[in-house]
Amino acid sequence: MAIILGIEASCDDTSAAVIRDGLILSNVIANQDVHKTYGGVIPELASRAHQQNIIPVVHRALELAQIDKKELSAIAFTKGPGLMGSLLVGVSFAKGLAQSLNIPLVEVNHLQGHILAHFIDDPVKELPHPRFPFLCLLVSGGHTQLVALQDPLSFEIIGQTIDDAAGEAFDKCAKVMGLLYPGGPVIDKLAKEGNPLAFTFTKPKVGGLNYSFSGLKTSFLYFLKDEVAKNLDFIEKNKADLCASLQHTIISILLENLIKASKETGIKEIAAAGGVSANSGLRKALITEGKKRGWNVYIPEFRFTTDNAAMIAITGYFKFLDGQTSALDVTPVTRI
Ligand code: KG4
Ligand code: ZN
Repeated sequence: MAIILGIEASCDDTSAAVIRDGLILSNVIANQDVHKTYGGVIPELASRAHQQNIIPVVHRALELAQIDKKELSAIAFTKGPGLMGSLLVGVSFAKGLAQSLNIPLVEVNHLQGHILAHFIDDPVKELPHPRFPFLCLLVSGGHTQLVALQDPLSFEIIGQTIDDAAGEAFDKCAKVMGLLYPGGPVIDKLAKEGNPLAFTFTKPKVGGLNYSFSGLKTSFLYFLKDEVAKNLDFIEKNKADLCASLQHTIISILLENLIKASKETGIKEIAAAGGVSANSGLRKALITEGKKRGWNVYIPEFRFTTDNAAMIAITGYFKFLDGQTSALDVTPVTRI
């Protein structure tokens, strides 16, 4: 039996989770509302909030799991990518606790965590697991990648963004419209009332299976500037249509390469992961496309889309079983 405590503190959420043999026992997340008013994550404030939250969050995760810290087999933590000041809090805490309990430390790549969240088991609900090999569209605030997995611990990135991530496109365009951070969920909500074909925005032309979102952000900004110059109320009057059209464009860019990747690799087991996979339009489009193309589509539970420690614990569990533990001098990395 392996009981893993997962710790995630890479950006603006402090989270701790306990997983026993792949089964989730707890997953506690403390969000940081402090960044909302600034329109983005302020690194200094994020590290300070992690410092305040980490002990109560870990305590609560153990309490909810009804696990004593002495029963833990290992501690898995996010090594990166992320904000240095945030990562340092999680890594230092994990090291201290692992050393005091004399148990192994397991470093986890945050992005791998998002993908392997698909392998979490739940005691009250059966969660489907993709079969290997499968393709994963990983879409978060910092990354957009197409990943092919052969088994839980071996994967290949077959396409990725050359500039902004899909989540960044949502967040930056939302900011231009004066919406609160993070903009993705706000756009998702407003888009439900709008017409996705009201406005068209140019799609980037990037080679292979790569993505680009910075051009879309710029063309959206200039389009709004022109329209607002003619009519000051343009954004307010067209908010729902703007959100629906923007979301529609981002989704079609994401799906185009996913379809291409499935054709090129012949893989029809298709999963989505990361914060943007919470988007209702993307979830619907994946199901529709999947039916059309004979894919088995795996969409994560909402609670496992955005940052959480359960995904770190499950990845740590696979690595622990494989004997992949880390030395005590391990340090966080902002990029991987
Ligand atoms: O995976 P995540 O929690 O953090 C990173 O690792 O980056 O992803 C956060 C991103 C943000 O850009 C946020 O706007 C986006 O996920 N997001 C969404 C939705 N929920 C979160 N984007 C579109 N629609 C949503 N419903
Ligand atoms: Zn993330």
